[in-house]
Amino acid sequence: MSKVDFTGRVAIVTGAGAGLGRDYALELAKRGAKVVVNDLGGARDGSGEGASAPADVVVEEIKKAGGEATANYDNVATVDGGENIVKTALDAYGKVDVLICNAGILRDKSFAKLEPENWDAVIAVHLRGTYCVAKPAFINMKENGYGRILVTSSSSGVIGNFGQTNYGAAKMGIAGLANVLKLEGAKYNIKVNVMLPSAGTRMTEDVMPPEAFESMKVEYVTPAAMYLCSEQCQDTGLYINAMSGYYSRSNIMTGPGVRFEDVPTAEDIMENWEAISSLEGAQYFGQTGEMMGMVMKAPVVKKS
Ligand code: NAI
Repeated sequence: MSKVDFTGRVAIVTGAGAGLGRDYALELAKRGAKVVVNDLGGARDGSGEGASAPADVVVEEIKKAGGEATANYDNVATVDGGENIVKTALDAYGKVDVLICNAGILRDKSFAKLEPENWDAVIAVHLRGTYCVAKPAFINMKENGYGRILVTSSSSGVIGNFGQTNYGAAKMGIAGLANVLKLEGAKYNIKVNVMLPSAGTRMTEDVMPPEAFESMKVEYVTPAAMYLCSEQCQDTGLYINAMSGYYSRSNIMTGPGVRFEDVPTAEDIMENWEAISSLEGAQYFGQTGEMMGMVMKAPVVKKS
């Protein structure tokens, strides 16, 4: 079996001062990568002045273990911040091979109580933050003809979780970004995959029951992230669940549906609802054009 080895590779991990990002950065460095450890150092909800300590401590840990790392304290949610994070990697190590967009905040509120500032802040850090860092990184990867981008979504978006419309929208937006970026990266050997993690961190400490929090170690998520960022990984556009020793794939599937030869009425739709809404025989498509085959093959039903 070949080893997942990042010797000679340069990696950026955003939000790497704590939680999952910290563990990704430590493991990347242990496996030979030169790592840019980005973290703004704010509170869980993104408030506060920010601090350099979280990123510095992780860089120190990496160096103590014999690895190479550089700290960066920029905000992923700004264009300048994203560019400067990538510039930190280019100045220190000359290129970017691996990018893990991981930085995140949480501001849960039920929808009727969700104020615009709590919508905007969550969308900014997760969705805009992914755009702001991934764009300059992607440009460098394209020039080099190699890249591994892992973005961070969540089952809260892909499946749904009460009280997290802002977070769910941002996380599903990130999955949508990956669906498209995987196509744009294909001919440059840039793979773009989506992590759906679950782990006990400060983000989940009052969300998970205490026993689950203890057992859902971040270390369970990291191996899947390492594989998805490796040279060996040839897949792109996959959403991978990783938690507590459980690993699986989720993706958006399209059911076979039905086809009318003429414009149907609302009643025709109602009449055929079972077949229209069924996921039996559903398929995954890598791009929109692939769906046409299924559209053409759909069983034709008659208007009533
Ligand atoms: P965490 O709160 O332990 O770590 C997030 C880090 O991101 C913090 O160190 C924080 O300072 C940093 N950060 C926040 N805003 C930033 C910004 N604007 N610029 C730079 N750094 C910033 O959270 P955790 O649990 O490690 O989460 C990591 C990612 O995984 C997040 O995107 C989160 O939404 C996602 N996730 C986590 C789950 C879990 O069960 N822990 C579940 C699903 C998704």
